[in-house]
Order: sequence, then structure tokens, then C-alpha cells
Amino acid sequence: MSRTPTPPRRARGAALAAFALVAAAAGTATALDAPTGAAAAGCTVDYRIQTAWNGGFTADVSVTNTGDAISSWKLEWSFAGDQKVTQGWNSTITQSGTAASAANVSYNGALATGSSASFGFNASVTGSNAVPAAFKLNGVTCNSPGGGGPTDPPTDPPTDPPAGAKVDNPYANAGVYVNPEWSAKAAAEPGGSRVSNQPTGVWLDRIAAIEGVGTGMGLRDHLDEALRQAAGRPFVVQLVIYNLPGRDCAALASNGELGPTEIGRYQSEYIDPIAAILADSKYAGLRIVTTVEIDSLPNLVTNVTPRPTVTPQCDVMKANGNYIKGVGYALNHLGAIPNVYNYVDAGHHGWIGWDDNFNASAQVFKQAATAEGSTVDKVHGFIVNTANYGALKENNFTINDNVAGKSVRESKWVDWNRYVDEQSFAQAFRQELVGVGFPSGIGMLIDTSRNGWGGSARPAGPGPQTSVDTYVDGGRYDRRIHLGNWCNQSGAGLGERPKAAPAAGIDAYVWMKPPGESDGSSKEIPNNQGKGFDRMCDPTYTGNPRNNNHMSGALPNAPLSGDWFSAQFQELLKNANPAL
Ligand code: GLC
Repeated sequence: MSRTPTPPRRARGAALAAFALVAAAAGTATALDAPTGAAAAGCTVDYRIQTAWNGGFTADVSVTNTGDAISSWKLEWSFAGDQKVTQGWNSTITQSGTAASAANVSYNGALATGSSASFGFNASVTGSNAVPAAFKLNGVTCNSPGGGGPTDPPTDPPTDPPAGAKVDNPYANAGVYVNPEWSAKAAAEPGGSRVSNQPTGVWLDRIAAIEGVGTGMGLRDHLDEALRQAAGRPFVVQLVIYNLPGRDCAALASNGELGPTEIGRYQSEYIDPIAAILADSKYAGLRIVTTVEIDSLPNLVTNVTPRPTVTPQCDVMKANGNYIKGVGYALNHLGAIPNVYNYVDAGHHGWIGWDDNFNASAQVFKQAATAEGSTVDKVHGFIVNTANYGALKENNFTINDNVAGKSVRESKWVDWNRYVDEQSFAQAFRQELVGVGFPSGIGMLIDTSRNGWGGSARPAGPGPQTSVDTYVDGGRYDRRIHLGNWCNQSGAGLGERPKAAPAAGIDAYVWMKPPGESDGSSKEIPNNQGKGFDRMCDPTYTGNPRNNNHMSGALPNAPLSGDWFSAQFQELLKNANPAL
């Protein structure tokens, strides 16, 4: 895996366009121009409890305007019990006691006569969960309250929506697949059994992985085992789709088997067979998360002409369009399967967090999501920090701090980035993606497999305020030599354990990169997977423009990327945060 960071685009004085969008997307829904004058009013409401579990449920609501056209709307109702809305989408929901209201968002306010708007929410509930008895649209009582929806909540928790519908957050109230192959390697390590029951990603990193490499498990083996582990519960399986033509164009350690022009093989020998297996009705009850093509699309922004970090191979992939085509094809064909949830790779804050890269990346993601017959609706969300090391939350400083007359952004470490950690980046980038046209309900995943940065060297508080550099360097958890370092980092630890819905906009913390699997070899190792030798994995390397010519910070004696690296696994256990 190459983490292909990019050096800061020094955007001193650059426009804050990205921020304007963030603020706009966070807008409130108080401005309701309820119809005035003599307009005829009328409405019907369909309120359905889509999924329920012990203590909560998901509702889908559709409101149809049977009166004159309106330009904005507010739907009001009273809950019959102690329902409390925890999260909503496609409307802005407010609640006070049992009284709740949903107001339109920017893109669904206008309702012509006969047209409908839909929104949904998650809520907690104890006891009875009856459908609200009455609804008002812009102050006018609707007929057919609860029309057609089930009036009795399902008593058997939890149930998945009918075929064709996806749940909002597949991780919510679901078990997650533990890959027995990874688990066995982890358990065989001293101390490894403390984490060997954690879910990790299954990487389909070559065509042969579909049937199983050598005696290893293939895709069907994993899905069959997942059905066994699920034992009837809602259950997530995490797959990594990772085999684009000309893979890893800005680095060498994770180059792949397909040459830059082999898009046809990618489609027919890789995506099609995967899609055929995932579509097997036997697996329809699983929630299959596919993280799509790690590191590929951001390379088309940051590592192409005229950027100073251009690589010829990334220019080739930009010119031939095969990253865009490949991702579009994968999203379209995998996303067509009702129980498959596509999450597109979105790099990490130390890559996309600079102004020059932020909106430009969102645009390229949209381009890919609308290529080859795909639409933005085929994207359920995005994943950040996959196989990278960016800290989840830097608690000892914020991007807004000033020290000795200088902003944290001017520190050498932050170097004009807009973000200091992955969670703030993921939340802001989610808004940016919605701003360029992705569905407002998209959720983010954060790979926390190796971003713990605990152990004895973890700072206990902020650094001294002598200068902005002493302040940031003394306080930061992320102890890489440079933010652009990505290979087998010395000092890294396991991060937050996998967890559903940990923060606003975040569907889950996940361990997509299986801890203990190498990022790349420290010296050249011949192989038949197409993998090269990237000196960023060599601890004696003194760097390149992408890490501003710093030492690589890599652990010595590393095997090929993807191979088990015991010393790294031990390092991750030792520096875990939260500690084990
Ligand atoms: C790297 C390797 C790939 C492996 C993955 C997970 O990307 O190139 O082969 O499956 O890491 O460890």
C-alpha cells in the first residue's frame, strides 16, 4: 500500500472557497416561508418504520403535497412515546419533548402539486413505537396519517430493510466479520490474542484473491464464514476492492498485476466475477461494505502535471482515464447489488487537507462516481486514512490556535494544512462531498488500525509556547518524522477499536488495513504480484519532495506489502491507544 502523500500546496493567501461551502452546508432550516394567502393546502404522509432494534429504529417518511405548489416545507408531528431523534437525513429535524418537526433542506424545498419529498431519521425508543397519529405540513393537517406504514413496530430486533433498500449506516447494531486468516496470524503473536477477535478488511488485491491465493480463502469462503459468524444477526463484511490498472501510480510498493491499459481485464476478470458472487441470493442478508480503490483518485489531483510531485505513471493514468473508468465501473456494478455499500477511498488529512487538494479531490470523486453508468447514488460514503497513520484527534492543539504571534497552520508540521487530524478532516470533507453533489446521507469511515500513537512517548499535554513549532511538536500524538511518511512507521500503535457511529457523520471506525501486514519491503524482493521496491520503506532513505526530504521513519527488515510483519505488529501492540 502506498500512502502517496503530497507535500503542502502552500496556499498562503489562497481563497477560502472550501470553507464557504462547509458553512453553507451546515445551514439551519429555520427559514420557513409557510404559504401565505389563499393557496389551497393539502398533503399525505407515509411514515414507515424501516428497521428496528432493541432501543431504536430507522424511519423513512415521504410527504406528498396535494395542495398548491410550495417553495419550502415543514412537517410537524408528535411522537406517541419517548422516541428521540438521534440523526436525520434529507431534512433538518428538531425536537422538543414529543413535538418534532422536519424542515426541507436546500435541494428539496420546492414541491409542485402532487410531488413528494422523502427524508429519514434514526431515533431511540423504549417501549411502544406507534406511528404518529397526525402530521401537519406548513401548519395544515394532512390526511392519511401514517398512510400505509406498519403501525406496529417490529418486535423482533433487528430486521434489515426489504431487498432493494439499504440501511443508512450498515454498521449500526451489526456484527462485523472477523477474518479467520488474519485472526490466526494475530493470535499466534505474543499478546496478539488481545486483538485477534477484531474485524479487519479482506483485501481483494489481485484477480486470484477472488478464488483464493494458493490454499488461502477466496471470496465465497469469506462470505460463507461470514454467514456462519452472523448467526442471523445483521452483519457487515468489509471488502477492499484494490486492483486498478496501473495501481499505485505515485509509488512502487503496491504496484499491481494489471498494466495501465488493462481496463478490460479489470472489468471482466476482476469486478464482474466479484459482482457475480456478491449478487448470489445466498448472501443477500449480509451487509457487504466495499471500500473502493485505495489511493487511486487523489493521485489524479496531486501527483500529475503541473504539480511538483508529478510522477509519469500518474500522468499516464490521468491521460488514459482508466482510474476514473475503473472506479466508475466498480461503483456501478457493485452498487447495483441491494446489500452492497460502496465507500470510496478519500485519502487522508495529510494529503487532501490542503486547500489546493480539498475541493479538487471532491470534484474528481464525483467525476468517477458518474462515470461508466454510475451515479452519485451508488456511493454510500467514503473512507479516510486507509492504511495511513494520521491521528484520529489531536487534543493538544487545534488549527485555530496562535502561539507567539503565529498560527498553528504556520508550524512546520501542519505546514498550511487546514486540518490537524483525521476526524475533523473526515467531517469537513463529508460536507464538501455533499456540496459537490453526493447524497446528503453519505457517511464516513475512518481507518483507525494504526493511528493510536500511544506508548511512553505520547505527550501528556500541549507543548511549550516558545514558538508555534515547540507547541505543535511538543503536543502532537502523531510522532512521524514528517506527515508525508507512510510506510511501516516506527512508533505507531493500534488506534481506536472498531466501533459503529462514533461521531457525527462517521459511520464507523474500522480496521481496514489489517494490523501486522507490511506496507512495503525495506529492500528489493522479487515477486510475481507486480510489487516494486519503494525507498519510503527503507529506513536509511533520506526522502523526496513528497516528504520534504525527511528520513522515511520506516521500520527495518520489512517484507513485501501485505505480508505478515511480526515486528510491526509488536510495535502496534506496544503503542496501542487506547492501551490494550
Ligand atoms: C497493501 C498490499 C496488498 C495488501 C494490503 C493489505 O496494499 O499491496 O497486497 O493486501 O496492503 O495489507
